[in-house]
Amino acid sequence: MQAQAATHSECIGQFEPTVLVHGGAGDIADSGIPLKKLGVKRAARRGYEALIKSGSVLDAVEGAVNSLEEDVNFNAGNGSVLTWDGDVEMDASIMNGATLEAGCVSLARDIINPISLARRIMETTRHRYIAGEGAMNIAMESENFKILQKGALVTEAAQKSLENYKASLNRTRSKRESQIYGSPGTVGAVAIDACGNVAAATSTGGITGKLSGRIGDSPILGGGTYADNETAAVSATGHGETIMRYNVVSRMLALVQHANHTAQEAAERVLNEMTQRFDETAGIIAIDHRGRLGIHFTSKRMSWAYQRGEELHFGVDAGEDQLEIVGEPRVPPL
Ligand code: GLY
Repeated sequence: MQAQAATHSECIGQFEPTVLVHGGAGDIADSGIPLKKLGVKRAARRGYEALIKSGSVLDAVEGAVNSLEEDVNFNAGNGSVLTWDGDVEMDASIMNGATLEAGCVSLARDIINPISLARRIMETTRHRYIAGEGAMNIAMESENFKILQKGALVTEAAQKSLENYKASLNRTRSKRESQIYGSPGTVGAVAIDACGNVAAATSTGGITGKLSGRIGDSPILGGGTYADNETAAVSATGHGETIMRYNVVSRMLALVQHANHTAQEAAERVLNEMTQRFDETAGIIAIDHRGRLGIHFTSKRMSWAYQRGEELHFGVDAGEDQLEIVGEPRVPPL
């Protein structure tokens, strides 16, 4: 039987509460950097505020990912890329590291926040993964989800990206070129509270030009997402087919659990090995069971940010770590 997890307020001082987010790994253009940075900073702050106010790492990762899903500059929710047929089909998953409870959804349509649907699946059904019509029925039965008109999530930018992708395939079958236009930009968040409870969440529109019904790594536990208080919370981004074939997140967790790696060491080792073996790139954010952060990508860039206390760190390029001092949200009285 699992022990009842201690609450955030009972553990003040044991771990430093932190919310770390990513806005996707890939070829981010120079012109896109300011909005990516703004978006990940905003998401980290929203997640951190939720963590401090409610003490819940699930609220933290859901809030952070909601912020990125609502922002058209990221490939999730409002900014989702399109299938070959020009539709939006989204995947998401959320996991609680204290209980190993999880909720996963695929082929979600016409809602802005698939991560909240994944959480609803976790909290209100006896299943852990529901796709397509069944998942949308759960959204429709809940007053928490606004069901948009068909096509409302299709943006001009995503249409242009699909056109460019199709044109690139006509010109060449080069894998590298198709990656540029099909560039993934999944979003994710990991969080730790003062007791060492962790959670992870990942949400995505997938990859541009994917076949209808294609599911990527993001909703696959151990593929693109996982959280376990005894090892780490992890969210991956990049080429989903490769990430799931290499079982990226499971490999990382095994290194933390059995080889005493830090989150950073494990992220670097697994992603570098994956990229060497498959010639494909990806990114990872992680917080391990000792509260240590891992941020690594083998793509050209990955937008990320984290808030810990008054410090808001963020970056896009390899080795970049900018710091802003922000106000810490007020802790409500006990
Ligand atoms: N990593 C997101 C996807 O490939 O769907």
